[in-house]
Amino acid sequence: MRSIFILSLLLPALLASEAVPECKKITDCAKCAESHIHVFGFKENCRWCVENNSCGGPFSCPLGKAVVQRDPFKCPHRHSDAKGRRYTDRLGRSVFAIALAARDGNATECLANSRPDVTLIKQYSVECDKAGNNCGAILAVSQEAKAIYIAYKGSSFDKQQILSPYFLIYQLFAEFIHGLAAQLGAWEKFVDDAGVITYFHNAFQKVFVESELQEDLIALRKKHPAYRLWLTGHSLGGSLASMTALYAARNKLIDQSKIRLITFGEPRTGNVAYAKAIETEIDFRYRVVKRNDLVSNIPNSVDPNAILLTPAMFDRQPLFYRYLVHYDNLMLKTDGFKVCQLSDDHGCRNLAGAVDINDHVSYFNVNHDEYNKLRCPRSML
Ligand SMILES: *[C@@H]1O[C@H](CO)[C@@H](O)[C@H](O)[C@H]1NC(C)=O
Ligand SMILES: *[C@@H]1O[C@H](CO)[C@@H](O)[C@H](O)[C@H]1NC(C)=O
Repeated sequence: MRSIFILSLLLPALLASEAVPECKKITDCAKCAESHIHVFGFKENCRWCVENNSCGGPFSCPLGKAVVQRDPFKCPHRHSDAKGRRYTDRLGRSVFAIALAARDGNATECLANSRPDVTLIKQYSVECDKAGNNCGAILAVSQEAKAIYIAYKGSSFDKQQILSPYFLIYQLFAEFIHGLAAQLGAWEKFVDDAGVITYFHNAFQKVFVESELQEDLIALRKKHPAYRLWLTGHSLGGSLASMTALYAARNKLIDQSKIRLITFGEPRTGNVAYAKAIETEIDFRYRVVKRNDLVSNIPNSVDPNAILLTPAMFDRQPLFYRYLVHYDNLMLKTDGFKVCQLSDDHGCRNLAGAVDINDHVSYFNVNHDEYNKLRCPRSML
């Protein structure tokens, strides 16, 4: 008893005076994350405080601020600023025009108005769940941009694409429940350890793998071997786009260096292994989020900066891949954005406040329904 008492008195002093400096000497995030010290025979991990770029002992870094421990994956990475590699608002808008064409009843006409350089190859529509929800996609090509496009549409319930708020919320709820199951460890295996939400897995099977879309893409690639493949979508469509990117890279449908992934309002599609796989396979990847978009924080994940998770708990979490492009504004043409360097969005934006459904359906300050109703005027984007 007495020795434990003495130990508990000594512990803080030892941590401060002896053990911690070993962590403090480390100046590199990855090395810090992989390092540990021994305190009375207990292994204690060093912690990298992102805010001030310093490595410390087990109790360093202010609570709630970004911290990297154990896994170097969480170390900050900068996106490329090189021409052709960076995200620009203009690029976002021109790709979003294609994402919105995917939800249009007549994508040919929509593209003719919004992106006249892009020609529709085919529009796909399949029932993607037992509730009879519709999943849609378009395959298109631009000679001018030397690009093949696949865009997926988001949640919608019937063939007239009437997005009543009730149905939208119902489907989100269904996705949310699957997400919860996923958080408990029931991820649907996608590639290797990478798991995704069951709902997205089924939808992807139906709309890409089992439909003609995959074959049509392979045929189009043969016709245009030098073209890049742009993958995009809004909401659920964003999840399907990121899954397509990973699937196409892993199955060598196209060289990964030719893949361009930009999603809008994408929910947390998969687990930690999924985020890691996307980051390993796809260099060009941006996940655009408007302000407090509700869907972009579904399913919820525990903030690893505030609560210390065991590695097993962490691995079961849903996790975003980089790079978050966050517009903390209305997304007017004059508005700016921030590109986040961290894995997931904790530490980059206020996720507790991400509860606004209006932000989900008004990217680039365009009411998506109205845009389609007005036949996709270029001037709106
Ligand atoms: C960084 O912040 C942590 C926590 O506030 C602190 O312990 C550490 O000394 C700081 N390091 C530097 C180099 O300022
Ligand atoms: C789509 O619009 C174009 C041009 O406005 C029209 O020629 C075509 O018939 C329409 N297609 C369908 C399926 O309605």
